[in-house]
Amino acid sequence: MTATADVAYLDDLGDVLSSVLRAIEAVPRHRFVPDVALLVPEFEGPPRVIDREADPDAWWRAVHSRFAIVTQFDDGRGDIRTAKGDYTSSCSAPVTVAHLLNLLDTAPGNRVLEVGTGTGWTAALLSHLVGASNVTSIEIDPAVAARAAERLGDGPHLIVGDGADGCPERAPYDRVHVTCGIQKVPYTWIEQTRPGGLIVAPYCPGFGSGHALRLTVMPDGTAVGRFSGGALYMMMRSQRPADPGPVRPEDALEFRTAVDPRTLAYAPLGADLAIAALTGLRTSVYQEDDFYRMWVIGGPDEWAAASWQPDRDDFEVYRFGDRDVWAEAVNAYFTWVSWGEPGHDRFGMTVTPEEQRVWLDESTRVLG
Ligand SMILES: C[S@@+](CC[C@H](N)C(=O)[O-])C[C@H]1O[C@@H](n2cnc3c(N)ncnc32)[C@H](O)[C@@H]1O
Repeated sequence: MTATADVAYLDDLGDVLSSVLRAIEAVPRHRFVPDVALLVPEFEGPPRVIDREADPDAWWRAVHSRFAIVTQFDDGRGDIRTAKGDYTSSCSAPVTVAHLLNLLDTAPGNRVLEVGTGTGWTAALLSHLVGASNVTSIEIDPAVAARAAERLGDGPHLIVGDGADGCPERAPYDRVHVTCGIQKVPYTWIEQTRPGGLIVAPYCPGFGSGHALRLTVMPDGTAVGRFSGGALYMMMRSQRPADPGPVRPEDALEFRTAVDPRTLAYAPLGADLAIAALTGLRTSVYQEDDFYRMWVIGGPDEWAAASWQPDRDDFEVYRFGDRDVWAEAVNAYFTWVSWGEPGHDRFGMTVTPEEQRVWLDESTRVLG
């Protein structure tokens, strides 16, 4: 006899614990991925175009892989087949989708607002979890929205528009599920969610990784919650950061640093959150063979680029603008170290109509 034989309640527990898994089984991803798309296998190789007609087996394997599949470049101006451009819509990686849905903790009958319909896969999963008539999903890109509508048929209520506005006509919501990265929580989502309702979003302030954020809406009209695991998404259109300005070597201040730029670039999620909250800085990295460059960006005219190369005693930094962004980032990193390197689940956020605050351990210990 096994340890679990005759334990009748295990079936019930399975239903509760694995509702997201069951939804993913019931709503397969291949129904939503376009015939031509770009597989992005993270650290396991370069992105590659998948074409269902040209190579159906490769397409099928890609769709059932654990990787994100990009479905649009440059807001529709780019051609997927060239594999060049900024990623602007995708079918997210299944593990990230499952993580966010798990945090969302839905119950049948919950009214859900989804921001970022994309391919429609998550909207279909949400429909399975709470019932299609309870799901409202908003997509800003009309072409992306039209394709998702074809796939979803008479399912959830679909809207083409800016998800930052929510959809007041269908409020109040029990859950808001955001599938594009945000730096700032639009207060409309809190206004449209009932007290006790949850908002789950990828918080992507731009320094290193993004973070899954789960907020609970409070009776006083604020929202409070914590971070839980990484979640890096393409940004909400209105919250995309500006690129650094053109390089003007004649304006650059060149100096050297003993701090290996990879110390900051490879820092854990807790450090990323702390540095972003303390400084408001962002990063971007470039790597090729044994050359590694990290940009620290304060704004279009305020940035520094620090480069690592093997066998160096110290590392070159070019700084543009008056603000010493490299020193600020390094100081913030060592401040986080001096706190005992708290993990990112010790950080939280409070959102009020006026502001959002990131804190450590208690909502009174505000950073920045
Ligand atoms: C990562 S994809 C969403 C993945 C999607 N949930 C799925 O299952 O395929 C992000 C989507 O958010 C959309 N988006 C970006 N900014 C938006 C906004 N302000 N309002 C609504 N959708 C937005 C993008 O066009 C893109 O389709």
